[in-house]
Amino acid sequence: MTNTNLYRRKLMQFLSASPLLAGLPSYGAQRLDDRDYIAESADMAVNVFDMENVALRNWNQAHWTYISQGVDDELTLRANREGYQRLHLRARRLVDVSRVDYSTSLFGHALPSPIIMAPVGGLGMAHPDGDIEAARGLVQSGHKMIMSTAATFGIEQITQARGEPVWYQLYPTNVWEVTQGMLRRVEATGADVLFLTVDIPGRNQDRMRRYNQRKEPCNECHIPGTTFADKAMLQGLDVPNVMRGSNPAMDWDFVRRLRDSTNMKLVIKGITLPEDAELAVAAGIDGIHVSNHGGRAEESGYATIDSLPEVVEVVRGRIPVIVDGGIRRGTDVLKALALGADAVCIGRPYVWGLGAFGAQGVEKVFRILDNELGIAMQQAGTPTLADISRAALRA
Ligand SMILES: Cc1cc2nc3c(=O)[nH]c(=O)nc-3n(C[C@H](O)[C@H](O)[C@H](O)COP(=O)(O)O)c2cc1C
Repeated sequence: MTNTNLYRRKLMQFLSASPLLAGLPSYGAQRLDDRDYIAESADMAVNVFDMENVALRNWNQAHWTYISQGVDDELTLRANREGYQRLHLRARRLVDVSRVDYSTSLFGHALPSPIIMAPVGGLGMAHPDGDIEAARGLVQSGHKMIMSTAATFGIEQITQARGEPVWYQLYPTNVWEVTQGMLRRVEATGADVLFLTVDIPGRNQDRMRRYNQRKEPCNECHIPGTTFADKAMLQGLDVPNVMRGSNPAMDWDFVRRLRDSTNMKLVIKGITLPEDAELAVAAGIDGIHVSNHGGRAEESGYATIDSLPEVVEVVRGRIPVIVDGGIRRGTDVLKALALGADAVCIGRPYVWGLGAFGAQGVEKVFRILDNELGIAMQQAGTPTLADISRAALRA
């Protein structure tokens, strides 16, 4: 060994034993990476994954499984996320992006940004005040909320917490009268947009079935043995024993009948194919929501961001198109808009915020994504939403 090498070795031995370096990361030792970062408050979360980290620690395993699972081998769940990672943005230079405006409008409503709260059932397992707390998180920013038929609380309480009518997601049940009773209750709150979810005539969720088999009571969020008929939105209605939460008999005749039974705007949630989008337009529907239920419906293994341009092509701007599934960054939102979406929904990210820090966590999630969208628009050289086109993406 040369003198120089010997000296280096001695120096390294001395340094590694020195208290001066104690606590500093070293090669081979575990470094403080994103997964170790635990935000102590909503303000300290820098991205939506920081919220996931905290929620993971707050929830029991059953709740975590309910939120995170997909279906079958979770190919679709993963595809939704990977779809965004495969798309590449083009960075334009020397465009004045000192002012960026991402406000927009949809179904006659002004939106602070194109990001909307997706309907998520059973939010009571994410936070004791569930949907009410989620609604509180949108009051300051003004983002739109779509509440679920499977919500933990009733629409009246949620509307009051939100401070304005919410949009309503419908699981139509298999009994027309029950569905109509629910719709009258929804209309009475001033809600004027209805999202009909059509993507779960049946599904296979292995991970949750394991828990259900154990029959462990989960008293934190619901009373054991409760069924869909016990959901808040079914209370006060005359519900026969044959009533079920899903309606696999649903077809386009049903959609037309539903459309004619309400003055609310009707959006179909769960479309992924162009031929179904074409039928939706023909049926006089007001909007299409491209969604595979966040990878919780069919196991196509196909990402919603890949379905989006196929749907947009046949819709040809006649009605608005919304997309969701796997959106975790402002850049994802920009990619969806570039491929023709008018707005996007987020599901799990705000549920993480809710589980981490309640309303403040929800509010921060929307602030993070809006902020990231603004930066992405600056990088793309697109100061307004109208400037965003396919040119923002590499072919
Ligand atoms: C735990 C959970 C419950 C959901 N419940 C509903 C529901 O009641 N009705 C519905 O239409 N979609 C429901 N969804 C789907 C969401 O509305 C949305 O399509 C999906 O979460 C978007 O994907 P993302 O979670 O990757 O953002 C649920 C999603 C999750 C994660």
